Amino acid sequence: MKTATALTSFFVALATLFIAVPTASAASPGETAIAKAYAAPGVAGYLGAPSAAVVCGLRDGGCARAYQNGSIHWTASTGAHITHGAIRTAWKNIGAQNSYAGYPITDEICGFKNGGCYQAFQNASIHWTANTGAHITHGAIRTAWKNIGAQNSYAGYPITDEICGFKNGGCYQAFQNASIHWTANTGAHITHGAIRTAWKNAGTQNGYLGYPSSDEMCSAGSCRQNFQGGYITWTAASGARSFFSTIVVNKKRPLSPISYAPASLTTIGSIQLETTAAAKAQVMINAAASAGVKLTTVSGYRSYATQQGLYANYVKLYGQQQADLISARPGYSEHQTGLSFDIGDVSGSCSLQACFENTPAGSWVRNNAWRYGFIVRYPNGYTGTTGYAYEPWHLRYVGTTISADLVQSKIPTLEQYFHLPAAPNY
Ligand code: DAL
Ligand code: ZN
Repeated sequence: MKTATALTSFFVALATLFIAVPTASAASPGETAIAKAYAAPGVAGYLGAPSAAVVCGLRDGGCARAYQNGSIHWTASTGAHITHGAIRTAWKNIGAQNSYAGYPITDEICGFKNGGCYQAFQNASIHWTANTGAHITHGAIRTAWKNIGAQNSYAGYPITDEICGFKNGGCYQAFQNASIHWTANTGAHITHGAIRTAWKNAGTQNGYLGYPSSDEMCSAGSCRQNFQGGYITWTAASGARSFFSTIVVNKKRPLSPISYAPASLTTIGSIQLETTAAAKAQVMINAAASAGVKLTTVSGYRSYATQQGLYANYVKLYGQQQADLISARPGYSEHQTGLSFDIGDVSGSCSLQACFENTPAGSWVRNNAWRYGFIVRYPNGYTGTTGYAYEPWHLRYVGTTISADLVQSKIPTLEQYFHLPAAPNY
């Protein structure tokens, strides 16, 4: 028995030795790196005492330890880095290492413009100043900001995080003196200064200009920035001026020059249209035919001279007041752009009359023309805006970006869409 007890004690002692030795040297690379980072001069002073044990098994095999005033995070590829204060809060708020930002890849670095500090993360940066607080930049917006010189550029520091959910899935971030807007189609572009003000006045991305499609381009004292639906120019002498790419013709907006003719016309059926519009009209006519609806072309491009004869005839028939409700004066007709055409009624009885809306062709274009970039330009009930009586047969080509936008946003006229004054008369 005695021998057995002694032998047991020996094995216990041996086992203790084997267990004890590996425990003492079991500090994992993460624990070791975190301990080393904490032991660096001054760190314990602002982090305070540990408030929990090291926790491992985090994303990408990471380890972390919490302290009274911050944390140290480690992974094999990023090393051990301290987060604390406002930058740490901003990082925690988006989900810390489990967010798109990932782990810190630097400690906080200070001494930047306006006393700013920043910290880099795997896929983001956080910049802080006393005035602006801590804000995250990442992705295409961050790249655009870095490309102009980040906080040292005119843009300055971020004053918001990235905010998404805007028109066409757009995101934006505000900086001290600029904004950066991004969509998948347009990429990330900066707006600032007088051009930004002009863009805001035109309704930002919700207005006719849409999102910026270039940054501001300047040379020899004149600047220009492109947007989806037009552009803005700036010179010291004339300030910022907005232009939109879509021709809008109404009683307040004559053709320019008054004798304007499209550069290229293509014959389609019995009419001529501007070449791009003609191709789109053909696609639409074919689509209608596939759906069993025949769209006949009655009147397309009309020259200044043709419109002159037409208008004079209406005046003779109905008097000027009535003529002005149904016919544009020469130089003021959409038909002169080559972008508009009238559809006939195959049965004949509702041609160029309001009852056209109830014919198969009238109903098909009302529901489907927008899919091909065409709109019913003079809708029912908007004579005070367009200047014309209801014309369910008159289509105008505007392209699918605008036609889809009009349908989605339920805006009935181009005047309203482009924030133009109503044009009930000349
Ligand atoms: N009927 C349209 C308004 C025109 O004459 O252009
Ligand atoms: Zn017409």
